[in-house]
Amino acid sequence: MTYSDTHCHLDFDRFDDDRDIVIQRAVEKGLSRMLVPGVDLASSRAAVALAENNAPVYAAVGVHPNYGSSWSDAVYNQLAELADHPKVVAIGEIGLDYYWDETPKPLQWKMLKSQLALAAEMQMPVIIHNREAYEDVAEILLDWQKDLAESQSPLAEKPGVLHSYSGNIIQAEKLLSAGFYLGITGPVTFKNAQELQVVASETPETRLLIETDSPYLTPHPNRGKRNEPAYVVYVAEKIATLRGVSPKAVGEFTSRNAKILFDW
Ligand code: NI
Repeated sequence: MTYSDTHCHLDFDRFDDDRDIVIQRAVEKGLSRMLVPGVDLASSRAAVALAENNAPVYAAVGVHPNYGSSWSDAVYNQLAELADHPKVVAIGEIGLDYYWDETPKPLQWKMLKSQLALAAEMQMPVIIHNREAYEDVAEILLDWQKDLAESQSPLAEKPGVLHSYSGNIIQAEKLLSAGFYLGITGPVTFKNAQELQVVASETPETRLLIETDSPYLTPHPNRGKRNEPAYVVYVAEKIATLRGVSPKAVGEFTSRNAKILFDW
């Protein structure tokens, strides 16, 4: 168990020509787990199919805030059914996106809150997308976690991950103390990423995860190319330098955290 990429969109068509080779390459690099989150119902189904066919691959199911036009009660019910699959370990990727603004805000809020309720019901952690919506995301998540704690749900201890965390360490504090994990992606390797590098070096070891967000956010030195799970090692190497430990140690503690959060 050396490395785990807890966020890669292996179902996307950018991988249609060489998906099996990409997964094989990741395994050869030492990845023991890859988590594919859904962005809508079709993508969630594809993620589950990939997980069924590849031992190291696990799935999350959910509708991403930019895919609001696909949302309906029927979709919610089918997600709930899919979530019962033994290789589905989380609800995601869900959240708020005020940058692309593809979905009206009230609908984004409704989708997020419905899927948080689903996660609570299924006792599954959430994978959270946030783009330029930090205040609202934090408020909604903290309220949700507080309710979990009050109802003595075990999920309150490990409610989910802030995927591709891009805020500062001060903003991270409240979420960390509510039990959330931070997912660090390729941008931590960029020269101008000082704020994120502070987050990667100061977050408690027990709360960090490493991700690629493949095919996006390719780390240095492959910036400009398509991203893939094997490159999560570059993220681990950068965090290792920042924290003064070995890349293997980063791979191991983040894999241990992923195992705790996703129970796989
Ligand atoms: Ni993503």
